[in-house]
Amino acid sequence: MTLQKSLLQQFFQAYNKEAEVVAYAPGRVNLIGDHTDYNDGFVLPAAVNFGTHVLASKRQDSVINVIAIDIDNQPVSFNLSQIVFDEQDTWSNYVRGTVIELLKFIKSSPRKNSVSGVDLFISGNVPQGAGLSSSAAFEIALLKAFSDLFNLSLSGIDAAKLGQKAENNFVGCQCGIMDQLISALGQKSHAMLLDCRALSYQFAKIPENITLMIVNSNVKRELVSSEYNTRRQQCEAVAQYFKRSALRDITLNELNENKQSLESVLYKRARHVISENLRTLEALTALNTHDMKLLSRLMADSHQSLKDDFEVTTPELDYLVELLSNVVKDKGGVRMTGGGFGGCVVAILPQDLQIKAKQVIEDNYFQKTGIKPSIYICTAEQGAFSL
Ligand code: GLA
Repeated sequence: MTLQKSLLQQFFQAYNKEAEVVAYAPGRVNLIGDHTDYNDGFVLPAAVNFGTHVLASKRQDSVINVIAIDIDNQPVSFNLSQIVFDEQDTWSNYVRGTVIELLKFIKSSPRKNSVSGVDLFISGNVPQGAGLSSSAAFEIALLKAFSDLFNLSLSGIDAAKLGQKAENNFVGCQCGIMDQLISALGQKSHAMLLDCRALSYQFAKIPENITLMIVNSNVKRELVSSEYNTRRQQCEAVAQYFKRSALRDITLNELNENKQSLESVLYKRARHVISENLRTLEALTALNTHDMKLLSRLMADSHQSLKDDFEVTTPELDYLVELLSNVVKDKGGVRMTGGGFGGCVVAILPQDLQIKAKQVIEDNYFQKTGIKPSIYICTAEQGAFSL
């Protein structure tokens, strides 16, 4: 039985009626450009072949029922007229927050759409807490389901903004827009260079003989939200010092000229972001010209900067990067990916090094850390709102 058929059956068993829509949104891997999105900077992610399905059917009343089968098979219910934070089933806050933002959007839009209650069934395979954006896939699949169910004609950019606001205003993570935008608008076999200020983007083809390998360190990410929000505040403090709206507007020269007057931790945070923006733009050229040597250097520098200046790597991530870099050398790139504090590394490598790269992880990582890694070979896929 296909996955979709099995999900349709499970929906029927749960609600005793057919699902009216089946929506799907992918997770993502970021090739380079981390902690730049909320500084109005540049990122280079790709949507991947792991994602979340949302099946939905309208109700006559204003109740939202949600079953997230991979998390909990008990349904969670709430009413559209009163959506409050759920301290117990915290996963449901992604649904609550997304619905609140959607209702606000509908109210302010000139098209007089309306929504009713909905029965929802959610199932996904994006590894959770791994830095591959399981939450963005969740939000974007949900928005796609609502858009299709009520003919809302949401654009990918609208959906990305709503998903981000759900996290910022309700869930409590001050994330940028990268994850939601690539989940909405990714393109098969391509990475996306996204300008997070203009929300403009261009695609770069991932060369055919190249493999995207993701290795999950399986280190539990702790205090992620509070550390993440602190990093954001530190970046904003530097922008304020320079009286600019974001770190995007400050050059490395300007930063260095002011080094003495800045707290050293703030200087380091800003140096990461400003240099990472430059690396990300160069990485686009490297990908477009198949310059693996350049990509290799940029990704290595990015990791080092996330380790020393932004301080979001872990010893396990550093070790994975070291192991893989020894195999890949200058034929491809390796770095941590996503928010950090645990999670995954990404390697862009020639297909013929794939087996060797896998082997080196299997031979060494568990021995050194006592943790079993997970290795995923990924492909770049289409986003939920891509045409
Ligand atoms: C998380 C956030 C993104 C981005 C990355 C780091 O994934 O959700 O907005 O800031 O971290 O690049």
